[in-house]
Amino acid sequence: MQQSPIIILGIESSCDDTAAAVICDGKILANSIANQEVHKVYGGVVPELASRAHQQNIIPVIDSAIKKAGISKNEITAVAFTNGPGLLGSLLVGSSFAKTFSMALNIPLIEINHMQGHILAHFIKEKEDSTKMPVFPFLCLTVSGGHTQLVKVSDYFEMQIIGETIDDAAGEAFDKVAKMLQLSYPGGPLIDKYAQSGNPNRFIFPHPKVSGLNFSFSGLKTSVLYFLKREQEKNPDFISQNINEICASIQKTIVDILLNNVVKALKQENLTQIAVAGGVSANSELRKRILDLEKQKYNVFIPKFEYCTDNAAMIAIAGYYKYLKGDFANLKTTPQARMLL
Ligand code: KG4
Ligand code: ZN
Repeated sequence: MQQSPIIILGIESSCDDTAAAVICDGKILANSIANQEVHKVYGGVVPELASRAHQQNIIPVIDSAIKKAGISKNEITAVAFTNGPGLLGSLLVGSSFAKTFSMALNIPLIEINHMQGHILAHFIKEKEDSTKMPVFPFLCLTVSGGHTQLVKVSDYFEMQIIGETIDDAAGEAFDKVAKMLQLSYPGGPLIDKYAQSGNPNRFIFPHPKVSGLNFSFSGLKTSVLYFLKREQEKNPDFISQNINEICASIQKTIVDILLNNVVKALKQENLTQIAVAGGVSANSELRKRILDLEKQKYNVFIPKFEYCTDNAAMIAIAGYYKYLKGDFANLKTTPQARMLL
């Protein structure tokens, strides 16, 4: 007898993106997302506005994912949702919807750690099934707006943090520096864009002195602040006249800091595979430099662009592997703003 397919609906609402995806037996059928433009003018995510926007977006986004997948909601086997870490008000919208959906359809409910989701995005299969996937154990550099971690991944849900930031996350560093350059939020993609036409060696910024495999980005932020102040005293148009060079130099410094520890960790843990996850893995310089490691005989895994930043496909794939383990949540579960890996 043929087994019926396992169809997972994934829901992500931990920050400012409302997302829904459908995965069938590990293969992506649909990946829908609604970005929230409302935060742009504030230079950062406003939690109260984020949760209100999630409430407006969640039903249309889920409806769009189910329609794109070409399935009826009665064919869904289980619903997986992000239970943390993230903004509590935002998480509550996704978790309440997921609970109601699971109750109404009488299907299992699966809770997912957002950071595990970013890592498991590497296991999303495309329809044509040519996806190259890492083999356990591998090293994952998770770089987002809230996290910067080096994770040793020994199995789907067996992950150990071997290095992390002691202050700002890499994405936060990109965004804060972008704000100093009067760029809009989120600044990471804009720094990346301007950096394309700049000389990365034009300005030199210091590297932090941190022990082991940990990272620090707050010193860079301060040094950029004083650098800009000094230069603008001499030339008020310094930023606009040198935007490409400034962005390229800052981007290179952040990527250098990340790469130094990646190489150190690969050697220390005797690992041959490196994967990147999280929004900052969309950065073109980081992608290029990490791919260069292939010349040193490392296997490099970079997810498709849409699986790097927040998305629900990563929640659905993590849900699929939890479903296979029979690891289900009950309706009493509550979202957690902070959550260990
Ligand atoms: O994973 P993500 O979408 O959300 C969080 O969970 O934080 O990551 C968002 C972060 C932001 O800080 C954003 O500026 C950064 O990822 N980001 C980038 C790029 N695209 C997104 N940073 C540098 N270069 C990019 N191309
Ligand atoms: Zn994220």
